[in-house]
Amino acid sequence: MTDRYAVVGHPVAHSKSPRIHGLFAAQTRQDMRYEALLAPLDGFVATVRDFMAVGGRGMNVTVPFKEEAFRLADTLTPRARAAGAVNTLAFHEGRIIGDNTDGAGLVADIRDNLGLALKGKRLLLLGAGGAVRGCLLPLLGEGPSPLLIANRTADKALVLAREFGAGVAGCGFGDLAGLSFDIIINGTSAGLAEVALPLPPGLFAPGALAYDMVYGRQTPFLTQAAAAGARCADGLGMLVEQAAEAFLVWRGLRPETAPVLKLLRQELA
Ligand code: ATR
Repeated sequence: MTDRYAVVGHPVAHSKSPRIHGLFAAQTRQDMRYEALLAPLDGFVATVRDFMAVGGRGMNVTVPFKEEAFRLADTLTPRARAAGAVNTLAFHEGRIIGDNTDGAGLVADIRDNLGLALKGKRLLLLGAGGAVRGCLLPLLGEGPSPLLIANRTADKALVLAREFGAGVAGCGFGDLAGLSFDIIINGTSAGLAEVALPLPPGLFAPGALAYDMVYGRQTPFLTQAAAAGARCADGLGMLVEQAAEAFLVWRGLRPETAPVLKLLRQELA
């Protein structure tokens, strides 16, 4: 029987997950179907339960339901618990397991697609909202040193850093003067509003990587980074890698991501 999966969101029509998982399924010859489900804003739980009732095996969760999925899950993986959000649901005998593959996807993209080890690297995360929190545990696991979180509202960065304990510090943008980093990841939503971040000169060490979690657009952050001579990457690789991690959770095997990423890049151009 064909196994059913879906991405649930609001909106969801723009989601690339059906395309990505369709390519993964074809590549690995898995008998599965993956669809997009638009849930009403007050109908997330009902949409999940209905999908379980028709035999669904798992779901991806996108905006704005990741926190609601966190609350719905019967059990949570450590990385989902740390993220405070769930992007992957797996259904087993009527129980809902909540996972979060965003951070692992980001780490895989930096390590495998961009070829950079995080160990010992000076890592700066910009932002202290859900996108940054979602990736913190897997990033910490790679052993960057130091790992600094800078946020417009400094307090939020300090609180988040404290929660994750040793190895993470928090500050405001104003505290970045005089510092430089090997890898700078933008997890703010400023790029969506086309707003530039107040980054001091010298922030990008020579040969630094500038990474924007947003994909498919030249954000002001990436424009600033390119002008400073940094190597630039958008979040398309993270999108494909988090999907591969979800596929691994569901099917027990990890598809090859390079050909899928290449195809998506061509389709976006
Ligand atoms: P997400 O789930 O996408 O992370 P969020 O939880 O609302 O969304 O967090 C948005 C992040 O982008 C926050 O870190 C926010 O900074 P504040 O905590 O100071 O609000 C940051 N952000 C949004 N717009 C920004 C801007 N114009 N300049 C700088 N930071 C911005």
